[in-house]
Amino acid sequence: MQVCFENPAQTRRELIDGLSATQATTSPKFLYDALGSRLFEAITELPEYYPTRTEAAILSANATAMSQAIGTVDTLIDLGAGNCAKALRLIPSLQPSLYVAVDISVGFLEKSLEDVQRQHPCLDVAGIGLDFSSTLALPPDVVRGRPVFFYPGSSIGNFAPEQAETFLASVRRQAVGGGLLIGVDLIKGTEWLEPAYDDALGVTAAFNLNLLLHLNRLIGSDFDPRDWRHVAFFNRDASRIEMHLEARRALLARWPEGQRRFEAGERLHTENSYKYRIETFAALLRSAGFADSRCWIDAKGWFAVFWAQA
Ligand code: AVI
Repeated sequence: MQVCFENPAQTRRELIDGLSATQATTSPKFLYDALGSRLFEAITELPEYYPTRTEAAILSANATAMSQAIGTVDTLIDLGAGNCAKALRLIPSLQPSLYVAVDISVGFLEKSLEDVQRQHPCLDVAGIGLDFSSTLALPPDVVRGRPVFFYPGSSIGNFAPEQAETFLASVRRQAVGGGLLIGVDLIKGTEWLEPAYDDALGVTAAFNLNLLLHLNRLIGSDFDPRDWRHVAFFNRDASRIEMHLEARRALLARWPEGQRRFEAGERLHTENSYKYRIETFAALLRSAGFADSRCWIDAKGWFAVFWAQA
């Protein structure tokens, strides 16, 4: 596995600035090294983590209506493709001639694309290793004909709403003539939301703690995961799940050019996962410049898949 951070010096700066801030923070993209990507795959299979299977059920129950609404697809661009499993479910109904998988984890993508090619020998496939955590800038000439972007899993929830709008606007500019199919997690009771991010087996805790091992490799720090505990809760005012790592004792984290003291109970904020209302997300799509949208929801009203025309 190779994780592609285009500019190591900038990555280092970004991480050290975040760790040194009064409220220590790291971007959720650092949760995904080789082990982090595998732990996330395991999360999607947990009984408590409803988004993946709820979205899959919506996609399969509405495949015909969705492909009618979407129309011709020449290029299907899968943002955050990972193991490409979600796109594999869509390809038979959308029938693109080119599938472009985009992910920050290049090595993970290569293996996944081999599976896609094996299952669809006539489909042209391409993989792009890209960090699109602030804006999406695909290399020129990657799209052929009518583009349809696919951004499943409610990964849009890992952006703050203002950043989400900027990101969606950058997708819209590249989707002109086509559109965006996007999965969005909806607001629901805390009794369902919190266990999804703090499961009984401790897989999400391992996913969060593994960030420290990734940081140690990226900046040469000496974080010991045993000194930290996983914390996840729903912040209803901000409409988001927050994930933090909390210091179990007062400690000093060191890296070659600096250090940071954490008091016992002090937290490193590692991820936000925003939850939306249907109307709020439809309004966000409009602000990002999408002309028209419609959505499909599961029976419990837990998750929505939007189709937005660019
Ligand atoms: C990738 N992303 C949509 C996941 C989420 O639900 O926010 C990441 C995740 N974090 C903890 N569990 C899953």
